[in-house]
Amino acid sequence: MGFRTIEELCAELDEKRSEALKGGGQEAVDKQKSKGKGTARERIAQLLDEGSFVELDEFVTHRCNNFGLEERKPLGDGVVTGWGTIEGRKVFVFSQDFTVFGGSLGEKHADKICKVMDMAMQMGCPVIGINDSGGARIQEGTDALNGYGKIFKRNTLASGVIPQFSVIMGPTAGGAVYSPALTDFIFMVDGEGVMHITGPEVIKAVTGEAITSEELGGAATHNTVSGVAHFEAKDEAECFAQVRKVLSYLPLNNLDDAPFKATNDDVNRADMTLREIVPINPNKGYDVHEVLAKVFDDGEFTEVQAGFAKNIITGYARIGGRSVGVIANNADVLAGCLDVNASDKASRFIRHCDAFNLPIVTFVDVPGYLPGADQERNGIIRKGAKLLYAYSEASVPLISVILRKAYGGAYLAMSSKSLGADVVLAWPQAEIAVMGAEGAASIVFKKEIEGADDPSAKRLEKIDEYRDAFANPYRAAERGYVDRVIMPEETRKSIYQALEGIESKRETRPAKKHGVIPH
Ligand code: HXC
Repeated sequence: MGFRTIEELCAELDEKRSEALKGGGQEAVDKQKSKGKGTARERIAQLLDEGSFVELDEFVTHRCNNFGLEERKPLGDGVVTGWGTIEGRKVFVFSQDFTVFGGSLGEKHADKICKVMDMAMQMGCPVIGINDSGGARIQEGTDALNGYGKIFKRNTLASGVIPQFSVIMGPTAGGAVYSPALTDFIFMVDGEGVMHITGPEVIKAVTGEAITSEELGGAATHNTVSGVAHFEAKDEAECFAQVRKVLSYLPLNNLDDAPFKATNDDVNRADMTLREIVPINPNKGYDVHEVLAKVFDDGEFTEVQAGFAKNIITGYARIGGRSVGVIANNADVLAGCLDVNASDKASRFIRHCDAFNLPIVTFVDVPGYLPGADQERNGIIRKGAKLLYAYSEASVPLISVILRKAYGGAYLAMSSKSLGADVVLAWPQAEIAVMGAEGAASIVFKKEIEGADDPSAKRLEKIDEYRDAFANPYRAAERGYVDRVIMPEETRKSIYQALEGIESKRETRPAKKHGVIPH
């Protein structure tokens, strides 16, 4: 017996590498491809800069001896992990391999994910998880559950320190949905990604309801109805492009600066068409996306949760090359009223921007909270409070632009001076008041209107009187609640100036462990 040669040892390594690359075998790979799905490694290759992926733990195997698993120990244990770059910036990734035990999560599979999460935290880099899994590996019992628990804990500790993205490209069932739900954003591919706590069969057995998996937890459902997901893509390529795009606005961690993207779009550009977009009549709708497209660099706006709670818009843009978070009421949907879902959507986005030091620019045109028994029963009080809390708590630079209506409690909630907005800009048609002229006149001049010979004519007269007196930005400007009244075409320049003026903002908070945010 002698030593083996280096050639023999390298050949052995080569063989093991080839073995690891096989995943769950050709048949399972063919099945995966026949569904139009990429393999775990193909997905990583598509996500990252070409050739940048460095794999870890490709020889890890499970150590389960139940139900015949001792005979099957595929190298890598059903998840591909490591790091690479996106536009030259380092990110850590894991990609579940459905061809190996249906991508199910056992002890070592979870350990691999935890390892890249720990490294990402230490290095201050984002984590992107590609999920395609049958959930807890049934043969591993509590070891699998413990694995999930360890991931949840890490998701929570990493929250607000490094960006965490979850890409859903397969089933995600039961408690497995909670790791994605603990991350910043969920990206889902139509027809591939499905998320639910209890599947169609269990629902059928328990409640008698018949529903398909897609209807229950497909990309469309979670992007429009439940609000669980933030991005919907028609295929894997589009999904990865979305991930890369979102990352381009974000710092790598909470102590890093967001990337600067040079632009030829002049920050002093005055766009006169802004005068035409927002109707003077406060009862008329318009699409606030058009305003955003005129104001930000190169007309670019990347919307987050575009299909959910469309009465408020959230997303990223740049001004003078700098990343900002954008929130805007959309008068075209529910007249831009705040409701339960809009409050949830905006609050979470505010906290995300605040955690990652992105200034927030808020475009205000809000008539109030949406009236309705349904809203009250669904907790508009706590949800509205959550929005107040989120803006009040945010210590990043806050800029508000009041485009038109800003009434009552909703005015306060939408990044008002009193909640801590640093610079409040208002257009000449802004109306900052307790309520709209019609409602206000009917209450304040009730007796006068009722006692008039022609009450409806009197009412109209009083509405005009109230509108002339209060439906403008100048009462608020007199008090300093509005810092500057600007022409619509001066918006881009004014936001940029405001950012320059307040970017060095430092705000201290009372010492405490953490607050108790309304939920
Ligand atoms: C072990 C699993 C598995 C699992 C799938 N497989 N899920 N092995 N544990 N959870 C295996 C299958 O046995 C099969 O192995 C291979 O993966 C592919 O699965 P198929 O069923 O052939 O694929 P498909 O028809 O595409 O169906 C996919 C599926 C289905 C919808 C995901 O496999 C399924 O319903 N799996 C069980 C899902 C589930 O109930 N998971 C537990 C959820 S509870 P072979 O060897 O035949 O190729 C949970 C709790 C987490 O996760 C709690 C955290 C707190």
